[in-house]
Amino acid sequence: MARQQVKSKERVEEHGEVFTNEREVNAMLDLVKQETERIESRFLEPACGDGNFLAEVLRRKLAVVAQRYGKSQLEYERYAFLAVSSIYGVDIMQDNVEECRRRLFDEFDGIYTGLYKSEAKDEFRNVVRYVLSVNILCGDALTLTKADGDPIVFPEWSLVSGSKVKRRDYTFASLLDKSEAQPTFDMIEDLDVDKDDPEKILPTPVREYPMRNYLEVAENE
Ligand SMILES: C[S@@+](CC[C@H](N)C(=O)[O-])C[C@H]1O[C@@H](n2cnc3c(N)ncnc32)[C@H](O)[C@@H]1O
Repeated sequence: MARQQVKSKERVEEHGEVFTNEREVNAMLDLVKQETERIESRFLEPACGDGNFLAEVLRRKLAVVAQRYGKSQLEYERYAFLAVSSIYGVDIMQDNVEECRRRLFDEFDGIYTGLYKSEAKDEFRNVVRYVLSVNILCGDALTLTKADGDPIVFPEWSLVSGSKVKRRDYTFASLLDKSEAQPTFDMIEDLDVDKDDPEKILPTPVREYPMRNYLEVAENE
């Protein structure tokens, strides 16, 4: 059954909330088809609603993970971790955020449980739930802040070697606003430099975490 595109007249008037239908979602994602099928490709949707675009991106990425790595559960989990952890969303409505996280989780879990049945691990399901809870956030994509006024902060997840994951957190503002990354005399020592383009200054993380096995990332809290 097709998903509802409008929840209420008030929500349309107050928040411009009209969800995109499946056919349009697919047609738009097909414009960047290669990226939607690249497992580690980063997607950030600043008004993600209940996840029409992000759920389809995840579905496409996980189809590639299953096809390439489905024979080994360990390999599948590592690459599914990469696929999920590179998807980000923001929405101003808390119920949309919760529905978006739930949809992405169900998309993942349906495939994971289907592949590995009783061998599928709750431990890994909890990791995916945790990653979605910090990657899909409630906030205002115009002011780049949460309801409490604090800045929206996203984790960057990198699979470093084998099963080890490095997490660095960045403010949404620093990822968008190049001016924040302009060097001043005092801070130049702190800035990372893009190895491929030494002229380009990268934003500074607001927090770094010790390297961990992908099954242990929630233990940072
Ligand atoms: C037109 S709907 C699109 C939702 C989804 N992208 C889709 O295509 O189905 C717009 C969404 O933006 C959200 N929104 C409105 N103002 C926002 C803001 N300042 N920051 C973040 N989200 C906002 C609404 O809650 C709504 O979910």
